[in-house]
Amino acid sequence: MTTRSLFLLPGDGIGPEAMTEVRKIVAWMNDARGTGFVTDEGLVGGSAYDAHGSAISEGDMAKALAADAVLFGAVGGPKWDGVPYEVRPEAGLLRLRKDLELFANLRPAICYPALAGASSLKPELVEGLDILIVRELTGGVYFGEPKQILDLGNGQKRGIDTQVYDTYEIERIASVAFELARTRGNRVCSMEKRNVMKSGVLWNQVVTETHRAKYPDVKLDHMLADAGGMQLVRAPKQFDVIVTDNLFGDLLSDVAAMLTGSLGMLPSASLGAPDPKTGKRKALYEPVHGSAPDIAGEGIANPIAMIASFAMCLRYSFELIGDADNLEKAIANVLEKGIRTADIMAPGCRKVGTAEMGDAILAEFRALSA
Ligand code: IPM
Ligand code: MG
Repeated sequence: MTTRSLFLLPGDGIGPEAMTEVRKIVAWMNDARGTGFVTDEGLVGGSAYDAHGSAISEGDMAKALAADAVLFGAVGGPKWDGVPYEVRPEAGLLRLRKDLELFANLRPAICYPALAGASSLKPELVEGLDILIVRELTGGVYFGEPKQILDLGNGQKRGIDTQVYDTYEIERIASVAFELARTRGNRVCSMEKRNVMKSGVLWNQVVTETHRAKYPDVKLDHMLADAGGMQLVRAPKQFDVIVTDNLFGDLLSDVAAMLTGSLGMLPSASLGAPDPKTGKRKALYEPVHGSAPDIAGEGIANPIAMIASFAMCLRYSFELIGDADNLEKAIANVLEKGIRTADIMAPGCRKVGTAEMGDAILAEFRALSA
């Protein structure tokens, strides 16, 4: 029997509650469909810090590296605001991204028809929205050196972060964006700040050259990242695939997420390069939302982004495309039936908690899989 290894890192806050709902789906798929998922579980973020003083242990890093896919919940919370910078909860996530070389972060922003009214934009601007942000995830200002606070000795300090990109980093993320565009609307918009930043000038050149050399059939546009942010809230449906650097991608994906009605809805996939021997990519799947410490433990968090992240895992790590389609359809159907967690509650709908939402999606998924 095929085995498929999943390493679960539920993390902090609402992460564990959301992960519980994914576990139910995994268990059902194994029972009913013989999918052979083998799961193991570790600690990341504040929960790892509490257990052993670091944001992720070496043992859990090794398990993440060995797994077919990592499912990640969320990290952070006020409890760990005071811990040293090197071991803050986010350091666990950043180390996973860097050590697994997960350079391509896919963040789809899809507006479920049933939720168009929950967006802060007019429903007609977001109805049917389906964009994909491809964010570079292992380079740029997140990881560039030097990264430090210098004491200038005159009562002043200097904070330094370094924005740096090499040709190969831009080329490979651009290629991912072009490849994905071919499976959807065949359009890519690249965003940088070439009017201010040298790294933006190079970004623009390399994307243009990659397009010319390998993907001339895809339509390519360039936009300054600030104008891109403005266009995202003015007329988001003009975009198909957006490709951008680590920091701009962080900002723009939060904006795009909110267009869809709730940050609680959006999944993401972080992928490495295909292994030359096996063709397999290292991969980590996580909701775009954070740990939401204010509602953690109350059983009211929205598990949809976590479940939709598992759907991306079925699609990109295990080529279970039919199952991925069905799981995404199950989410849409449940919303269509008026079942809502508190964050997306609307008049006339039925408010449910985390577990009930997970159960409703599983029931729908089973029906669609029959
Ligand atoms: C994200 C988050 C992370 C980031 C944090 C938690 C380090 O905001 O995944 O978008 O900045 O990349
Ligand atoms: Mg972010």
